[in-house]
Amino acid sequence: MPRPMTKRLRLLGPVERHETLDSTNRLAAQRAAEGAPEGLVVRADRQEQGRGRRERTWHSPRGGLWLTAVLRPSSLEGLSLAAGLACVRAVRRYQVPATLRWPNDVFVGDRKLAGVLAEGRFQGAAVSYALVGLGLNVDLGAEDFPPELQGLATSMRLELGTAPRLDEVQEILLDELDAAYVEHERGGLAALHEEICAACSTLGRRVRVLAEGGPTEGVAASIGADGSLVLDDGRAFYSVERVEVL
Ligand code: BTN
Repeated sequence: MPRPMTKRLRLLGPVERHETLDSTNRLAAQRAAEGAPEGLVVRADRQEQGRGRRERTWHSPRGGLWLTAVLRPSSLEGLSLAAGLACVRAVRRYQVPATLRWPNDVFVGDRKLAGVLAEGRFQGAAVSYALVGLGLNVDLGAEDFPPELQGLATSMRLELGTAPRLDEVQEILLDELDAAYVEHERGGLAALHEEICAACSTLGRRVRVLAEGGPTEGVAASIGADGSLVLDDGRAFYSVERVEVL
């Protein structure tokens, strides 16, 4: 079992737990709009309309860790990368050899283990609140994934042979999210940039970027100071539909 970390600084809870929700991001948005303090976490055992990036659906049966944290950050730039890194750090504490796939997917080899859906609301130019939704496949077997995800998704149980307790993984994940968030608040993306690049298995690989203006191929060379993906020919992408590692 991973060692506990030092005290959390910003993600102090409470954790609001539900058996079934449509989406934890949806309920967390409602709570944040009602004035919920930073640190509130909404968790569901299962989601009926789990949301992924770009309006995709997120398969969320019982056995996964589906939660959203309400944060009130000074800037959103790089926050979702920081959350992806927190996820990588958390599962590596269980010896799962996870890497980050730009921008914020967590993979083991070529299979996706976890995803991040970060959303922000502004009041004028200032961030009013951010919602960081994390979906981590913990206690799922191959039969728990629908046919279209077979061979593309994995879980901690599939990687380790046995699943850690969900409540324990929740605490580890929130510890790591708190730590990465605090580092990000103090030093911006620059504070995490080196570690993100080291954890990022997209770099050095040939990729197809699906973005506005059509698909583009190249070698992923670096991550820019603003979090963008930079190809070997210098083209930089910030907001994309999808990146395929070829
Ligand atoms: C992605 O990789 O596309 C992002 C997936 C994010 C899924 C999580 S599960 C908890 C939270 N609630 C949602 O509806 N989505 C996020």
